[in-house]
This record gives sequence, structure tokens and C-alpha cells, in this order.
Amino acid sequence: MLVVEGLEKRYRYVRAVRGVSFTVGEGEIVGLVGPNGAGKTTTLKSIVGLVVPDKGRILVDDVDPQRDPGIRRILGYVPEAPEAPRWPRVCDFLEKLAYLEGMSKNEARRRARASAEELGLTEYCNYKVGALSKGLRKRLLIAQSLLRERKYYVMDEPISGLDPEWVAEVRAKIVALAREGSGVLVSSHILRELEEIVTRVVIIRRGEVVFQGSLKELSEYAGGKTIVTIRSPNATSLARFLAERGYTILATSPSMVKVEAPEGETPSSILSVVEEAGFKVEGFEYSKYSLEDAYLRLVRGG
Ligand SMILES: Nc1ncnc2c1ncn2[C@@H]1O[C@H](COP(=O)(O)OP(=O)(O)O)[C@@H](O)[C@H]1O
Ligand SMILES: [Mg+2]
Repeated sequence: MLVVEGLEKRYRYVRAVRGVSFTVGEGEIVGLVGPNGAGKTTTLKSIVGLVVPDKGRILVDDVDPQRDPGIRRILGYVPEAPEAPRWPRVCDFLEKLAYLEGMSKNEARRRARASAEELGLTEYCNYKVGALSKGLRKRLLIAQSLLRERKYYVMDEPISGLDPEWVAEVRAKIVALAREGSGVLVSSHILRELEEIVTRVVIIRRGEVVFQGSLKELSEYAGGKTIVTIRSPNATSLARFLAERGYTILATSPSMVKVEAPEGETPSSILSVVEEAGFKVEGFEYSKYSLEDAYLRLVRGG
């Protein structure tokens, strides 16, 4: 388990992190979410040892990396800023990092090519890193973290700035890492970016955790209802099906049902209930997004 306990960090004029505590278990995907300047990067850098906190501690499988820095080897890190040198070529850069990890030359080359391939960088293999666009450089930083298997991954905004195809790919990759048993801590300033994949969220505002829990708990916190409109050729029986399961039917026609979901349901959980029951879905919209409401309420301090 990755444990963050009472973390505090002050820069000259800013209390960037003020008593942040949370955990990331094996197989979990925890989203660290909050607006720009909330303290996400400072928290993640403290975990991987790039920032020395003023107070609090980090435990990686019960080991304090400040005492035993070798434990950091089980952490993979994706930095937020394009922290990569400009001059090396993409695949050479990956290969050297793999080599420095202690792999043989051949193994390093093989892993570098595999990671590049995984992030769609093969065609950019001979580009200078500095010549990559922002999104491509982000993919390079992700590829770098995947050069070897790690028990925990700390990813700082790995999704922001990617094009839609790669948003989906990177999300799927994160889910796969967790399935294989790794714990993943992933930050974002956009809750919706992570909504489909996280097991839990830690919401941080001005250096303090203002909420942590599952998305279900977050939407309960909002108290708002999710209203969805589903287009289906068998809308009439779909309406009956949903009514039996506690949904309030707001409107219905032979091709459309509009329902209010019970508390705690999210648009994606509703869609999976409907699809698993075998209903054909031709359109799906939601008119109120309670998670986002809850998030905004939290980060605005309302
Ligand atoms: N090296 C630094 N020197 C001074 N202030 C910093 C430094 N790094 C971050 N800060 C400040 O700390 C606060 C938290 O920043 P950061 O951890 O980067 O937040 P986030 O990643 O959530 O946007 C911000 O107010 C930021 O300006
Ligand atoms: Mg940041």
C-alpha cells in the first residue's frame, strides 16, 4: 500500500499542501482531482521524492523512502510538465533509460521499442524529443514509466492534452495496470477525465483534501439526481424494466425513455444496467451531471 500521511509543504509564500492524507492500495486506481494550483503536483512529487515535505510522511509498502530510497524502484512516475531533454531521439532516450534501470543492452532495446509501440511512438522513433508536439511528449513520458513493471504508478495529468484516441488508449492502459495488480495514483484537474476508471477519488482544494471516497459517495454527497434520456426501439419495455428497478419515469414514447436515476447511480452505471439487460440503445444523453455538480461545489468551497 502507498500511504500519504499528514503531508505539508510550504513554498516561500504559498502553503501548497496542508495536511494531505490518503492511501492507494494494490489494484486500485485513485484519482487525485482538484483545480490548478490545488497542490496535486506537489503531493505527487513528494511521493516520488522530488519534493521534500515539511511535515508528514510517505510509506511505500511500509517503507519510508526518505530512510530507504531504494524502495522508489517500485514506483513508476509520469511527470506533468514535459520534463524530457530536447536533444536525444525518442527511441534512444527510452533505450538509455531502460539501460540505466539495469537491463542488458538487448533487453533495453526490446523494452524501449515495446513501450514506444504501446504509446504509438514507433513512427517518431528517430525524432528528436524536442521536436515532438505536446501530446506526443506526454505519450513519451507515459512510455518511459512503462519501461518496466512497477508495483505503483504515480501519474501527473497523464490524460490532459491528449487527443481523443489516446485519451481512450491511456485510460485503458491504466485500467490494465490495475488489473495486473498495480496501484495507480492519477491526477487531473478534470474529474470527467477520470470518471470512467477510478475506484476512488481524493478531491483537493488549496492544499487540503475536501472529499475522498467512491464516485457513488461523491454523487450521494451532491444529493443531485441524474436524469438520463435513452433512445431505444423497445423503449416501452425498457421503461417498465427501469421502473421496476426504482427509476422514476419522467417521460416515455415508443422510442425514448427519460428517467431520473436513484441516488448514487452514474450515467455509465445506468447505461451498463440497460445494456446488460439486453436492450438496444440507439442514443444516450444525460441532462444533469450530479458528479460534476458535487465536484464544483467542493472545489468552489460552497
Ligand atoms: N517550486 C515552487 N515554488 C513556489 N511555489 C510553488 C512551487 N511549486 C508549486 N508552487 C505553488 O504551490 C501551489 C500548488 O502547486 P501544484 O502542486 O503545482 O498544484 P497543482 O498541481 O494542483 O496545479 C500553487 O500555488 C503553486 O503556485
Ligand atoms: Mg500540477
